[in-house]
Amino acid sequence: MTSLPLRIRITAWYFAVLATGFSLFGVIAFYAMRGSIHETVDENLQDQIQGVRELIERTSGKAELAHDLEQDEEIRAGSDLLQVSDPAGNWIYRSRTMSLYGPGAPRETRTSITTQQPNAVPLRVLTLPVQAGGKTYIVQLAYPLDDFYEALARFRRVLFLSSPLLLLLASAGGYWLSRRALAPVDQITREARSISAQNLSSRLVVPHTGDELQRLSETLNGMLARLEQAFRRITQFTADASHELRTPVALMRTRAEVALRRPRSEEEYRDTLRQILEDLQRTSSLIENLMLLARADSGTEALQRTRINMVESVGEACLEGRTLAETKQIIFLEELPESPIWIEGDSNSLRRLFLILLDNAVKYTPPQGRITVSLRSSDGCAVAEVRDTGIGIAAEDLPHVFERFFRADRARSRETGGAGLGLSIGQWIAQAHGGTIRVFSKPGEGSVFQVQIPLAGEEENAVGSKQ
Ligand SMILES: Nc1ncnc2c1ncn2[C@@H]1O[C@H](COP(=O)(O)OP(=O)(O)O)[C@@H](O)[C@H]1O
Ligand SMILES: [Mg+2]
Repeated sequence: MTSLPLRIRITAWYFAVLATGFSLFGVIAFYAMRGSIHETVDENLQDQIQGVRELIERTSGKAELAHDLEQDEEIRAGSDLLQVSDPAGNWIYRSRTMSLYGPGAPRETRTSITTQQPNAVPLRVLTLPVQAGGKTYIVQLAYPLDDFYEALARFRRVLFLSSPLLLLLASAGGYWLSRRALAPVDQITREARSISAQNLSSRLVVPHTGDELQRLSETLNGMLARLEQAFRRITQFTADASHELRTPVALMRTRAEVALRRPRSEEEYRDTLRQILEDLQRTSSLIENLMLLARADSGTEALQRTRINMVESVGEACLEGRTLAETKQIIFLEELPESPIWIEGDSNSLRRLFLILLDNAVKYTPPQGRITVSLRSSDGCAVAEVRDTGIGIAAEDLPHVFERFFRADRARSRETGGAGLGLSIGQWIAQAHGGTIRVFSKPGEGSVFQVQIPLAGEEENAVGSKQ
């Protein structure tokens, strides 16, 4: 059933529901008609038998009674299906038709109405005991049902014959309707099938019907937009990555070729090898960064989060940062709190994040400048800031510094050797901790990079700060 096309399934359901409905209708209509026939006949019988009872009550002698019944105009006009007996079953009066079609002497002496067919004709028989002159008479009055039953049978025949035809017609209508209703779905399917990586920017035509199909098309278009964006990012990333890798490889190749062009002194060879080794080191760290971002994208780079003291993490990164700063004659200041600040984090990743920020601060701050690292907890977050008095970042570059491969002034940045991946990695680390990273900067005055990481939980920090 599930492998059939939807419109066939809808039609089948439609058919099943209709067939059940028709059958129920038929059964109910049939019994309701029969019930109402019995009701009408019974009322008639009740009315007529009153006349007979009055007559019996007037005359109580046996012979006289039979005669009276035979003579009574009213009774003869109303019904000739009448019989009267005593409780022992001896006839007092029996009309001609009753002796032909009617039941035998009554065994029941209580009031009752039953349907019987003692002979050729189905009868509705009303039995009534009447007391008169100290005797009991059992009066039975009957009404033939054959005409009614024939009408009922005709009705049943019509129902049986017309139902399949009606069902067939209705199902064909249902099929047509479901085809019509599902046609736009086929349209959407066809359009969606034609979209591939080559034309990810094409979109489905949205029907402005305000219904489920419009919502479906819009949802699919939204999904396409997200896919296109992700696809673009990946393509861009691959292109940038290969470009970044090609440069140092070409450089190493040139160095080696130049060195081999003619015989050289051992010192010259050593020099070339040293330069190539330096290039190689830069290239492998670039590859490492690229792989980290690729793992982050695919969601396979998992953090080992434990409860750690942020003061220690930042302090460790500062040890290295201070060394970097001092070789460039930059003043390095730390403003770290005494009490611990607990967070759920991966200490290696966090150290890496702060080294990225400190490395940038040193790179983009001239000698005699100042770098300040501070840490505090506020609003349920650990807030760390790396502040420098360096060259700053132009306002139009600020929104892009966290983008992959972005470098503000490309020529100058290449001199300092970065690939523009540091802050992308830093941002990923902050976000993987449920935190954020922000930048404030003024060209010529310096920059502030602010990292916020949620605290490990209120009570743990309260306990932690008491220790
Ligand atoms: N402290 C800073 N001062 C000025 N510019 C900065 C600073 N940190 C980052 N930038 C700018 O942001 C760009 C991206 O930084 P990053 O992702 O670390 O790449 P990289 O350092 O490899 O160039 C840098 O090229 C630089 O232009
Ligand atoms: Mg950097």
